[in-house]
Amino acid sequence: MDHGLWTKTKDMRKKIVAGNWKMNMDYEEGLSLFSEVLNMAHDEVTGKQHIVVCSPFIHLHSLVQMAKGNTKVSVGAQNAHQAESGAFTGETSAKMIRSTGAEYVILGHSERRQYFGETNELLAKKVYTALKHSLKPIFCIGETLQERESNVHFDVIKSQLAEGLYHLDAGHFGQVVIAYEPVWAIGTGVTATSAQAQEIHAFIRKEIAAKYGQEVADHTSILYGGSANPKNAPELFAQPDIDGGLIGGASLKSRDFTDIAKVFN
Ligand code: 13P
Repeated sequence: MDHGLWTKTKDMRKKIVAGNWKMNMDYEEGLSLFSEVLNMAHDEVTGKQHIVVCSPFIHLHSLVQMAKGNTKVSVGAQNAHQAESGAFTGETSAKMIRSTGAEYVILGHSERRQYFGETNELLAKKVYTALKHSLKPIFCIGETLQERESNVHFDVIKSQLAEGLYHLDAGHFGQVVIAYEPVWAIGTGVTATSAQAQEIHAFIRKEIAAKYGQEVADHTSILYGGSANPKNAPELFAQPDIDGGLIGGASLKSRDFTDIAKVFN
């Protein structure tokens, strides 16, 4: 393998370590965790990698204020409604999220698909509305254990990509970050091996190249998620098609989260 070319291709893409706090942290706890992350990132994160913290809605505005002027750390939400506005009690629109200053939004997380019945068709609408309001989607895809065991995981990934994202033109697609999160690895302590993850990431990039061309594919950041921690991150992030991580449990500990981000120093 031409190692020089390989490194160069990997260098074209933004390296991102994103935390997904899920439904954790009350208001004060969230602010203090974020303040620790900001301090540690300032002192210890020295590369070009970018950190994104995806908090519950209640924290967004305050976290954005705390991160003002910080070029290393951005803030994101974990969901957004597909409609512009209206009678959807309890929901939050993309425009509202953007108005807090948040830049990213996780869409299609497996927990949303599983517990809230979110389909690829619905997610296609959410992605469209998020982009319309200048939010960058972190679009999650991944197979269940049953799908992997029945050897349909490539088909599942392929249709999640096609049905969720291929309505976008190349310009809009370029704003999307992909997160591969095998459902069987989320919160289980069972991480995909670096070879398993690389195999799927390479497949995702190949699919994107077939749809949008090689250049778009080479510039798309594809993150791995599922029981990532400071111990396994170095090997995962060393894979040619893995551009960072979407971190659940370990993002609730500032030390662990920063150590994962530091893998790209
Ligand atoms: P864990 O890192 O806790 O396995 O969660 C991964 C995840 O779902 C991130 O979105």
